[in-house]
Amino acid sequence: MTKYAIIGSGAIGSALAERFHAAGVDAVIANTRGPASLQAITDKFGSTVKAVELEHALQSDVVILAVPYDALPELAKRKSAWDGRTIVDATNAIDFPAFKPRDLGGRLSSEIVAELFPGAQLVKAFNTLPAAVLAADPVKQSGRRVLFLSGNSPEASEKVADLIARLGFAPSDLGSFKASGSLQHFGQPLVALNLLKD
Ligand SMILES: NC(=O)c1ccc[n+]([C@@H]2O[C@H](COP(=O)([O-])OP(=O)(O)OC[C@H]3O[C@@H](n4cnc5c(N)ncnc54)[C@H](OP(=O)(O)O)[C@@H]3O)[C@@H](O)[C@H]2O)c1
Repeated sequence: MTKYAIIGSGAIGSALAERFHAAGVDAVIANTRGPASLQAITDKFGSTVKAVELEHALQSDVVILAVPYDALPELAKRKSAWDGRTIVDATNAIDFPAFKPRDLGGRLSSEIVAELFPGAQLVKAFNTLPAAVLAADPVKQSGRRVLFLSGNSPEASEKVADLIARLGFAPSDLGSFKASGSLQHFGQPLVALNLLKD
């Protein structure tokens, strides 16, 4: 059985914990401060989402990064090899306090993040919806909420699309990073687009 981890327990990590719990999909969750700091989440979702130490969570098959973009280099160095793992990048490269897209010299943040996790297959997903929308029930009378994903490994994208569907959303696979371009990145048209697919 695929083991899922949510890294980060802020707005997006908590929203994901709520969706995993609602869908009955088991996962672990971790932050920098250890399981005791996650009690508010485990009080509500602990029967499916278990709080663990970060090192434990990073051993999972599918690791969802719900942390600030600038935390990624340090996080990536916690393991020397990421072979065989699917990393799901939910981050957005944003400059604060201006709240503007980070100038990455014309590169895509997903390509930069992929280089930080050698050996892993990177899929970008869960980054386009505001946390409150991501946390809400994705199944409406008129359809299921759309979640975009992209990545260079069709196998990893299929795995993440399957997870997105299990969580109740309608996955929309944009293809490789080259094919999807920057559409799914902060400041671009698909970010904050809340669509329902019937
Ligand atoms: N908020 C939104 O609506 C939204 C929407 C789409 C995408 N995003 C993106 O999603 C990401 C998370 O956003 P957020 O709003 O959830 O942030 P947040 O509320 O500030 O939470 C960040 C979480 O990351 C954890 N963290 C920080 N550094 C870490 C590290 N090195 N290792 C493990 N955990 C670490 C923090 O843990 P500690 O508390 O222990 O430090 C905290 O739980 C960001 O990249 C953001 O751009 C956010």
